[in-house]
Amino acid sequence: MRFASLSFFSILAVLFLFSCSGEKESETVPAIETPISATASGIYGQVCAACHGEKGEGKEELHTPSIAGLPAWYVEEQIRKFRSGARGFHPEDLPGQQMRAISLILTELQISEAAKAVTTMPPGITEPPPADFDLETARYRYANECMECHRYNGKGEVVFHSAQLISLNQNYLLRQLRNFRAGRRGATEGDLYGAKMVENMKQLTDDEIEMFVHYIGALAHGDDPRGAREK
Ligand code: HEC
Ligand code: HEC
Repeated sequence: MRFASLSFFSILAVLFLFSCSGEKESETVPAIETPISATASGIYGQVCAACHGEKGEGKEELHTPSIAGLPAWYVEEQIRKFRSGARGFHPEDLPGQQMRAISLILTELQISEAAKAVTTMPPGITEPPPADFDLETARYRYANECMECHRYNGKGEVVFHSAQLISLNQNYLLRQLRNFRAGRRGATEGDLYGAKMVENMKQLTDDEIEMFVHYIGALAHGDDPRGAREK
C-alpha cells in the first residue's frame, strides 16, 4: 500500500466500500473514472502489489491468490476474461468482481507488462496435505480426472488453456473449484475452457473438492501421479 499512488488509493476505497456493502449495487461493477497513471514498467508495483503482495504471494485477508510464477499467457488470458465479463460476473463472487474492476482500468500494454512481471517472480508452493491424508485415493482420482489437462506435474498446458495449480494457495483453490461447481465461474456463453471445469466439478461433493485441493498440495511437494492412471 505504501507505494500506491493517490488515485489508486481512491480506487481501493471504492472497491472496499463495494465489497462491504451487501446492497443490490454489488451486482454491478463500480464505475472507475480515474485512470491509473502508472508507467508500463512499474505497473506491478503500482497496481497489483497492493492486493497480491510485493512478491506476488497473495494475501488471505484480501482473498487474493498467489500469482507469482504463473505463466504469462495464463495471466493475460484471465485478465482478459475478467475484462470481458467471463469471470467476476456473478453477484456472489465478490473477489472476482474486485479483480474485474481492476482489469477494466488497464491498457493492453499494462496487461502484458504486468503478466511479464508476474511470470518472472519465484512461484509459491501450495500448502502440503495433512498427515492423515489418503494420498493413494487422491492420486488415483487426480490421475484419472485432472491429469489429462493439468499434467502430471500440475503445471497446466497452454494448448488446453489449463491453469498451473501447484503454486496457488489452498483457500483460493477451494474457492475456485466451488465457484466452477456453482456456476460462479466458467458459466458464461462462449467460455469453452471455463465450461470444461464446470463439467468436471458438477458432480463433486465438498469432501471431494477438498481432497483435490489437498492433492494439489501433495503434487506441489513432489508426488507423482503417473503410475495411478486407469489402464
Ligand atoms: C483490488 C485488489 C486487486 C488488485 C489491485 C489486483 N488484483 Fe488480481 N485479483 C484480486 C482478487 C480478489 C482475485 C481473486 C479473484 C477470484 O477469486 O476469482 C484476483 C485474481 C487475479 C488473477 C487470477 C489468478 C488465477 O490463478 O486465475 C490474476 C491473473 C490477477 N489477479 C492478476 C492481477 C494483476 C496482474 C494485477 C495488476 C495489474 C492485479 N491482479 C491487481 C484482487 C486484485
Ligand atoms: C478437460 C480439461 C480439464 C480437466 C479434465 C480439468 N481441468 Fe481444471 N482447468 C481446465 C481449464 C481449461 C482451466 C482454465 C479455466 C478458465 O479459463 O477459467 C482450468 C482451471 C482450473 C482451476 C482454476 C485455477 C486458477 O488459477 O484459478 C483449478 C483449481 C482446476 N482447474 C483444478 C482441476 C482439478 C482439481 C481437476 C480434476 C478434478 C481439473 N481441474 C480437471 C481444464 C481442465
